[in-house]
Amino acid sequence: MSELIARERRQLELRVLRYNPQDPDATPAFQSYFLEEADAMTLFIALNEIREQQDPSLQFDFVCRAGICGSCGMLINGKPGLACRTLTADLPARINLAPLPGFELIADLSVNTGKWMRAMSERLETWLHAASDDPDIDSLEPVMEPELAQEIYELERCIECGCCIAACGTLQMREDFAGAVGLNKLARLRLDPRDTRSDADFYELVGDENGVFGCMSLLGCEDSCPKDLPLGTQIAWLRRRMVASTLD
Ligand code: SF4
Ligand code: F3S
Ligand code: FES
Repeated sequence: MSELIARERRQLELRVLRYNPQDPDATPAFQSYFLEEADAMTLFIALNEIREQQDPSLQFDFVCRAGICGSCGMLINGKPGLACRTLTADLPARINLAPLPGFELIADLSVNTGKWMRAMSERLETWLHAASDDPDIDSLEPVMEPELAQEIYELERCIECGCCIAACGTLQMREDFAGAVGLNKLARLRLDPRDTRSDADFYELVGDENGVFGCMSLLGCEDSCPKDLPLGTQIAWLRRRMVASTLD
């Protein structure tokens, strides 16, 4: 048979969990959309095609389309992932999509990760507390070994997509748990010699069951992180460091 005969394209069924909490008459329900699969089609492309050609009321979030902004996280066949980095070819023809759990639902697949991240960041003070913040101190940054700078840089690749939060069983039970995203940020800051805080200061922030001692090493966070961050290793390191600080 001629190789020029076009391969038959799959018909996809996207089953989207739809619900708008602002609508008092709405109830959560799956709605199916059917479309033909295209070459190199991502869920981003598929959802946009549905919104443009079938249902302009469908709500979901995208900004960068390149795995950078972190806004397109959703449950894809039950597993958190980025829609813009997920090829439909890697999925069965019937695809279930739902919003990430653990965040305030805006509508359909759109959740307010920004509100959660901001509250976590303020609670855990996830910014560098550097001596140079003080205008009266004229100090140079300490010299950093290239290997350490690289390690810190790697951990800073988090895009705050929320996939690790949605994948964490602890967070579904304890809503103030810092989650892998929060604990990874604190581990990165604890590594950073420019941060002037002590182990005791960090213990104040994460030395409890909402911090390092709440993590049950379930590792759903690491399995779901689209940036492949070593979250389990970082949490274990921070926990050991916090325990050691109590023994000093
Ligand atoms: Fe997303 Fe990974 Fe950051 Fe969690 S740690 S918010 S999964 S990039
Ligand atoms: Fe949750 Fe990850 Fe710990 S999934 S329990 S934060 S190892
Ligand atoms: Fe930015 Fe997917 S649209 S990460």
